[in-house]
Amino acid sequence: MANDAAQVMKQEVGKAAASRVTSGTIVGLGTGSTTAYAIQFIGERLQSGELKDIVGIPTSFQAEVLAKKFGIPLTSLDAVDHIDVAIDGADEVDPNKNLIKGGGAAHTREKVVDYLANQFIVVVDSGKLVQRLGESFLLPVEVIPMAITPAMAALKKLGGQPELRMGVKKAGPVVTDQGNLVIDVKFDNLSNPEELEKTINNIPGVLENGLFVNCADLVLVGEIVDGKPVVREM
Ligand code: 5RP
Repeated sequence: MANDAAQVMKQEVGKAAASRVTSGTIVGLGTGSTTAYAIQFIGERLQSGELKDIVGIPTSFQAEVLAKKFGIPLTSLDAVDHIDVAIDGADEVDPNKNLIKGGGAAHTREKVVDYLANQFIVVVDSGKLVQRLGESFLLPVEVIPMAITPAMAALKKLGGQPELRMGVKKAGPVVTDQGNLVIDVKFDNLSNPEELEKTINNIPGVLENGLFVNCADLVLVGEIVDGKPVVREM
């Protein structure tokens, strides 16, 4: 399954996060290729009987499909009053454990679930670590369709270079699980993520942006050391 270094790192870090899940807990299930391994390993632990009485809260249609495939029972936020632990990936992680998320256009639901969790574990390969957010990844912003033009203008006024995210193997723009569109924004100077997160969310028509500030409790980083995959805590 794991056929290159990045896949091996994702697999190991996903496994490491899954091994921290304990019986009888409510687990937020993130989105993306790294979290997919965590979902798989949680499912395998359940099937083997090592783990019991887990329920998952999916952050996306992808997470829901994977949870069903690997036999993890699901519930919704209407049925529970807390989440014990959430496991989710990230597109960038800075030294303060602040994140850019939304590479899978799922950041709105991810933010709801990850912020609610008593413990939020981020799973990344070492290629996601940056000195400053925005260094290598554009900031995703989910916008309701009728507000796309004014929202783009407002993002330009903030100094960003916005572009509408287009589908792959699908003509036209990416449509989120909520039926909205995603604008990816390049900011040359993303020095105050805490303030920018709020400022962008104040633009009329913006549902949520991919800045996750002061949210991660633990970042697990998968890396290759001396040719072998290792997982370290950040
Ligand atoms: C989806 C996300 C993902 O967690 C993020 O894009 C990382 O994905 P991957 O593990 O595939 O690199 O935020 O909206």
